[in-house]
Amino acid sequence: MNIVVIGTGYVGLVTGVIFAECGNCVTCVDIDADKIALLKKGKSPIYEPGLREMLTRNIKEKRISFLVDASDAIADAQVIIIGVGTPSNADGSVNLSYVHAAAESIAKALGEVPKKDQSYKVIVNKSTVPIGTGNEVTTIIKKNYMGPFDVVSNPEFLREGQAIADCMNPDRIVVGNASIQAQKVMEQLYAPYDCPKLFTDIKTAEMIKYASNSFLATSISFINSLAELCEAVGADVKEVARGMRLDKRIGAHAFLDAGPGYGGSCFPKDVKGLIDIGYQYGVSLSVLEATEDVNTHAKLRVIEKIAALVGSPEGKKIAIWGLAFKAQTDDVRDAPVLPVLDWLIQEKAKVVAFDPVAQENIATLYPSIQFTNDCYDAVVGADCVIIMTEWNEFKSIDLNKVKKLMNKPVMVDARNIFGTQTMKKLGFIYTNIGNVQ
Ligand SMILES: NC(=O)c1ccc[n+]([C@@H]2O[C@H](COP(=O)([O-])OP(=O)(O)OC[C@H]3O[C@@H](n4cnc5c(N)ncnc54)[C@H](O)[C@@H]3O)[C@@H](O)[C@H]2O)c1
Repeated sequence: MNIVVIGTGYVGLVTGVIFAECGNCVTCVDIDADKIALLKKGKSPIYEPGLREMLTRNIKEKRISFLVDASDAIADAQVIIIGVGTPSNADGSVNLSYVHAAAESIAKALGEVPKKDQSYKVIVNKSTVPIGTGNEVTTIIKKNYMGPFDVVSNPEFLREGQAIADCMNPDRIVVGNASIQAQKVMEQLYAPYDCPKLFTDIKTAEMIKYASNSFLATSISFINSLAELCEAVGADVKEVARGMRLDKRIGAHAFLDAGPGYGGSCFPKDVKGLIDIGYQYGVSLSVLEATEDVNTHAKLRVIEKIAALVGSPEGKKIAIWGLAFKAQTDDVRDAPVLPVLDWLIQEKAKVVAFDPVAQENIATLYPSIQFTNDCYDAVVGADCVIIMTEWNEFKSIDLNKVKKLMNKPVMVDARNIFGTQTMKKLGFIYTNIGNVQ
């Protein structure tokens, strides 16, 4: 199939590369000329395990190409995928300007196709969009193009850090269709995938995405509330989660890791987005309002824990292990580390940080932070080390060496990588989230 993907971020680029890997002919488009220039050289603007190798292979096999203006490619495509960002507006509502602009560019390109050359197109919306956006995209295209097309909703469920694996082997594929003809094209596109495929209407598909992310975010806030109670009553939140996951109705993969609150480019904006959609329809989603409040509180609790162990951080050397909002990604959008860094800098601490892949992204936001090449260098002479991302390499660290390198062996383990008893035995002044033993 000839496919055009609009937007080469975490979703668009991974989607394009995977569809190329499946044997399709893919053109990826982005308004960011620097990104396109990098991609043309076979370099990925984002870190995602396995992406670079797959990108290079598909460029070499001539199954994927990159353009700033894709008018010709759009005219030839059977499937046009919208994968642009949908960030929050200041009031929490969803900013649809990028989706609208992408739809306008499709409309313009299709409008220039002579009538005799017009063929049926499926415009696939993969961006996370408020319920009813599919209809808006249809209206924008129809203003310029009278030929045959359908808009479908095909929400993306990939997880950053595991995006290639998730796209190759998804739990499910959800498609909201406008017609049988569109469904047939989507069935053909996803024919290589052996997983449950849910074909439904567009609005329901759009809702499934918000429902899934909001449910997962709510699980995290639920366990973070319980973590605080566990600390108060002397229970162990990790064991509580283990006990809960043994219940088949809750599930072995339930999102029940207590920590510094959810972050990243999706959960915070999607919870806000769904609250706003509810508000527009007069439906109060108080569960999600509580989810947000608990999440803000979870981030503040990390700061309180640092202050409890360190006192005033002024002039002290504070080491941070992990900057990305979760392991295996370089994405720092809404990462839980951001309020911690803001506070430490405001309090005039000397911040030294290490992250295997996200340092560059933080350096542009916080030029005063010093970065190191490994975790050990970061803790030399430090008065406290704070773990903010659950990178595997922190799990196998030589803690005796860390203790010797530090000025004072103080650790705030916001990802519950270590346990209270082990760390106390080693002579650390230690705290975590939820009294993990
Ligand atoms: N990141 C994730 O883990 C994830 C997972 C599932 C769904 N989503 C959803 O997918 C969408 C994209 O997310 P992302 O994280 O990939 O975003 P991103 O910010 O990483 O990338 C968006 C890209 O679109 C480009 N763009 C914007 N307007 C454009 C236009 N008119 N024409 C061409 N390119 C344009 C930008 O330059 C950017 O490169 C969002 O709606 C998001 O909620 C994201």
